[in-house]
Parts: sequence; structure tokens; C-alpha cells
Amino acid sequence: MSTKRGGWGTRFGFYLAAIGSAFGLGNLWRFPYVVADNGGGAFVLLYIFLVFIIGTPFLIGELLLGKSTRNSVLLAMKRLAAPDSKSGQTSMGRAEALPVFRRITPVAGYLSLILCMVVLAYYAVISGWVLHFLMQFLVALFSTDSLKPEATLQVLLNNGWLQILLTSAHLVIVFIVVAKDVEEGIERWVGYMMPVFGMLLVTLAVKSLSMDSAPDAMRFLLYPDFSRLTLSSLGQALGHVLFTLSIGFGTMVTFGAYLKESAYTPLAGFRVATVDSIISMFAGIMIFPLVLASSYPISGPELLFQTVPVLFSRIPGGIWFGLGFFLCLYLASVSASIGLLETVVANLKETRKWGRTRAAARAGAVTFILAIVPALSSSTFSAVRYGNKGLLELLDSALINWLLPISALVTSQVVCYLLKDEVKRGEFLEQESATSEKMYSHWIFVLRWLATPLIVLALSLQLFDLIRN
Ligand code: PHE
Repeated sequence: MSTKRGGWGTRFGFYLAAIGSAFGLGNLWRFPYVVADNGGGAFVLLYIFLVFIIGTPFLIGELLLGKSTRNSVLLAMKRLAAPDSKSGQTSMGRAEALPVFRRITPVAGYLSLILCMVVLAYYAVISGWVLHFLMQFLVALFSTDSLKPEATLQVLLNNGWLQILLTSAHLVIVFIVVAKDVEEGIERWVGYMMPVFGMLLVTLAVKSLSMDSAPDAMRFLLYPDFSRLTLSSLGQALGHVLFTLSIGFGTMVTFGAYLKESAYTPLAGFRVATVDSIISMFAGIMIFPLVLASSYPISGPELLFQTVPVLFSRIPGGIWFGLGFFLCLYLASVSASIGLLETVVANLKETRKWGRTRAAARAGAVTFILAIVPALSSSTFSAVRYGNKGLLELLDSALINWLLPISALVTSQVVCYLLKDEVKRGEFLEQESATSEKMYSHWIFVLRWLATPLIVLALSLQLFDLIRN
């Protein structure tokens, strides 16, 4: 049984893994369809605003919680909540915090982990779809029959067993990487895929920009028409920011715990948030010209799979572009899935003292069971609908737009009010300068007086919208 805590061999290793976990289906699959559902430019603007007002401060908070406690989210929360005498070690929590606050703190840890497992379950289903298209493009390369993307998607959606098979294939791949140690597994894997990935994304975005539909797509993506926002848009933008930056899952707490002592947490958080947002915008630039050139309605989780492959099957050299695109997407979903499973494994290792392989196998098995319902959502459970949403979209919306903001909110309150001030200040003031002192007070101010009320407002508006409809 391995009891050693892994660590990033290099600072670059941390960035690769943190960006690899932040960047995933959220950027390429979810971002375009949520933007399309919310009318384009105005939503994008809201999203960018929230990345910096809520996303970045929260991300810094989670990294800092991990780095200062050197624990994953469950133990970190427990240590903050425990008074000095019982824990046997000095509590990192402020002694004057309210007892009721101490009592609910560990619950936040459990909530994060439940989110990790359930989200990984349906994430694995969508990753299975990506895997399926990747294989179809690969086959098309060697066969004389032309690719029929519409039929490919229909076959997939109607066949629950195929989806279960693809989901399990994905989970096995993720299990293998996570069962190895942090440095060996994640760092090496992400290190190989990131450069390939960046090149593919830029090439495809440039290709999309040369299409006739590009000007309309850019207008849709960048021109803010605020009348297209709804009462739920703030909540949806918030949920997506948290999802895409992997906040509220405890993932960044785990990654923070692996950070080197000398790492400067605020800068690390800021960089991860910025790079992730740039990648999302590239994904939008790549996808919207393709989407607008097609005659399909532009919404829902199938958006990407309905439109993009059809186009690739029509343009010259499309098979190669399609192959590149789905390879890109698959690598991104593997690295994000690794982040999700690694979070659960790190917590199980710490609290149960299980070995890495055992923890990964058990967490993987539970995730697989949880994935069965979403995998059957478009076949066996296709009749389950609410409004115009199917089961998968409902699950995604309930988790990301409701539960995730609550989880992130509680975690941020713990960092704000329970984690000792000198610990937080210490992380910001590593480099003794007036600027870092100022940054610290800005950070606390934004957390307390901007981010927290905004989340409460977003949840209330959503609730109001739900009741009204
Ligand atoms: N941020 C990932 C994405 O955008 C999803 C994710 C959430 C990954 C939480 C790890 C942890 O797809």
C-alpha cells in the first residue's frame, strides 16, 4: 500500500495536470451548446465576467485549501472543523468560528465527492460518444464507403448497450492512468497530449474561420444582445464557469495539495482560469461556423455530434479533420476524467488508507454503475423528458446549475471564514511586497462581497424562473 503523497515533479507538471483537468468536454461539448441555448454573445460576456469575479477567486481558494492543509478535500474540511485537542494536531480553523459552521463543514467535502462520481458517470457516457465518432472516422479512412454521420449518431442514440460498452471502455482507460502514481500516470500522459492538442485546435479554428458562415458565427458569438438572456442565464453561466474550471468538486484542493511549497498559488489559479477561457473561446470559434452552416436546430447535448461530423464528411480532407477533431476531444475528455477520478482516489487513499489501485478500482466500479442510467437515457429512458429536455440534459442541468454552485459556495465560505487568516495571508504574502498585500485584500473582498452575493442571486433567479414556468 502506498502511503506516500505524490507530487508534481516540475511546476510545469502541475500546470499541465490542472489545465488538463480544467480543459475537457466542458469547453468543447458543453460550452457551445449552453451558449447556443442562451442566445450567444451576451451570455459569453457574462461567462467571461464570472470567470474572473467568481471562478478565479474560488479556484485560488481551493488550491490554497489543499496547499495549506496538504490534504484532499475530506480531510482538509475535517481538520478545519476539528478543535485543536481532538484532532491531535493544531487545527487550521479559526477558534472563534461558529459551532454550527464547524458541523456542516465536513458535509461540503462529501458533497464535492458525490458530485465527482455522478459527473464522471455521465461524463464517461459523452466520452463514449466521442470515442465512437473517433472510431468511425478511423474506419472511414480505410474504407471505400463514405461516412454517414447522421446515421452514426442515430445508431448510437438508439443503442443503449453500445453506449454502455463505450462508457466502460472509457472508464477502463481512465482507471489505468489513475491507478499509476501521479507523476508517472497523469503528468506523463498530459505532457504528451497538450502540445498535440494545442496544434489541432488552432488548425481547426483557422479552418472554420475560412468558411462562409464565419462572419455570422462571430457575430453570434461576440455581439452581445442582452435581450436574449433569461432569468436562468446567470445561473447557467455560473454553473458552467464552475464546471469548466473544475471548482466545487474538490479537484483543485487535491491538486493544490500536490503543489510544491515554493509555488505561488494566486498566480497558479489565475493562469489556469485564463488558459481555460482562451481554450473555450477557441472552441467557440472552431465550432460556431460549423454549426451555423448546418440546417439543424442549434441546441442540446447532441449539438456537437449532430453538426460537426456532418460538415467534416462534406469538406475536402474532412475525414482527416474529423479524425483530428475527435482525437482532440477524446484526449481532452480523458484528461478531465482523470482529474475527476483522481480526486476520489486521493480522498479514499487518505481517509480509508487504501492503495491507489484498490481505490481506483472501487471508485471506477461505482461510477460504472452510476453511468448505466445516463447511458440508457436516449434509448430505454427516452420517454423521460421535462420541457424540451431529455434525461441526460436534466441530470446535467440539476448537477451543474444547482448542486455545483451550492458545493462551491460552501467551500468558499469555509476558506473565507474558517481557514485561519494567517494561513491565507501567508500564501499571498510569500513574496513580501505591497502588491501582494493588496492582492490579498482584493481577493477576500471579492470572495465576500461580490462572489457570494452573486451566487445567491443566481440561485434565487433560477428558482424564481423554475417556479414561474
Ligand atoms: N473541467 C472539466 C471540463 O471542462 C470537467 C471537470 C470537472 C474535470 C471537475 C475535473 C474535475 O470538461
